[in-house]
Amino acid sequence: MNTATLRYQSGFANEFVSEALAGALPEGRNSPQRAPHDLYTELLSGTAFTAPRAENRRTWLYRRQPSVVTSGYQSYAQAWWTTGAAGGIVVPPDPLRWSPFEIPAEALDFVDGMRTVAANGDAHGQTGMAAHVYLASRSMARRAFVNADGEMLLVPQQGRLLLTTELGMLEVAPGEIAVIPRGMAFSVALPDGPSRGYVCENYGAHFRLPELGPIGSNGLANARDFLAPTAAFETAAGAYEIIKKFGGHFWSTTQAHTPFNVVAWHGNLVPYKYNTAHFMTIGSISYDHPDPSIFTVLTSPSDTPGTANCDFVIFPPRWMVAENTFRPPWYHRNLMSEFMGLVYGQYDAKPEGFKPGGASLHNCMVPHGPDTEAFEKASTAELAPHKLDNTLAFMFESRYMLVPTAYAMQGGALDGAYASCWQGLKDNFKGTP
Ligand SMILES: [Fe+2]
Repeated sequence: MNTATLRYQSGFANEFVSEALAGALPEGRNSPQRAPHDLYTELLSGTAFTAPRAENRRTWLYRRQPSVVTSGYQSYAQAWWTTGAAGGIVVPPDPLRWSPFEIPAEALDFVDGMRTVAANGDAHGQTGMAAHVYLASRSMARRAFVNADGEMLLVPQQGRLLLTTELGMLEVAPGEIAVIPRGMAFSVALPDGPSRGYVCENYGAHFRLPELGPIGSNGLANARDFLAPTAAFETAAGAYEIIKKFGGHFWSTTQAHTPFNVVAWHGNLVPYKYNTAHFMTIGSISYDHPDPSIFTVLTSPSDTPGTANCDFVIFPPRWMVAENTFRPPWYHRNLMSEFMGLVYGQYDAKPEGFKPGGASLHNCMVPHGPDTEAFEKASTAELAPHKLDNTLAFMFESRYMLVPTAYAMQGGALDGAYASCWQGLKDNFKGTP
């Protein structure tokens, strides 16, 4: 597959139109008595029919056979991928950090190589999210995955992902992210061999762009930089295994044909990718730095205004210019729970111990902030303009406490000495009572 030939459509949740064969899209109606080329018409609804227009997501598919043509499902074993808070352990109130999660020697694909680090909420209740890592070294061959429990935000850290979806193909490299809608079949190939990355499985409201408020009509992640695929379908004959995640359980079936048989489609429920290098950072040009919410790429709102089910936030390369300001993040306790990962480079609040491919978790009201080394440097540094470069950290931030899994706590990557990185912050107070 020559990925240089992949073509994309630009925009966020646009009403896209795409056909892999000229004339395959019906004109002037969605469901004619007989669709062009005798394709079947199928609607994929990503929101309730009656969701407000600004939030409504659905796509019309014109395909060689509808996705209902499949056989019965059998239970499938994937014990490492847990769903919701109930699948975890009793949450310790400590800050937690993990060394890079190692890719197993056993050749696993994207589905079998998924490991849940922490989760909250409940897929049945359509609330909350899970933070996973995928540790994979084998492409999915004649195998597709469907997640009925949530949309999936993919953050590759090592190796590109070549995603085949019902709506077409996407290539996603480290530094880029992709989102696959809930319920859409997709398959993951690994053109670079052993690959690692992070996943936010969002059980709640679908991700959307944050409001910009006084920032204005441009900035942060610009809508035009989101890329959706163009229609493409597989022609090779042969059976396909479908793995489905459904209500926290895994199921498998084999069908006689590929699920990637959509010849044309139109709609606004699409897989998409985004290059974080296009993110327009907003920051201080006087003193202090704004809250990290200025780095929000996508947000999944909850029913409480401004209190997200999950925000996806990045810390990309940027200039630091503020005067008389402690430039790393301040010390913090937060109602929201913060799961962080590092794609590449160094994170300014933890220059050493936080590694690419690792993670940290600062749950609700768990104190955190720059480690001793970062504090010492930042509080004595000359405040000249300074570029933080070659770095990409990110955060999945949720209103619900994130519950770590047994894999996270006992799988070997937990940094048992994490809290010691703050023990050198001594009492420097010189005042006299
Ligand atoms: Fe924080």
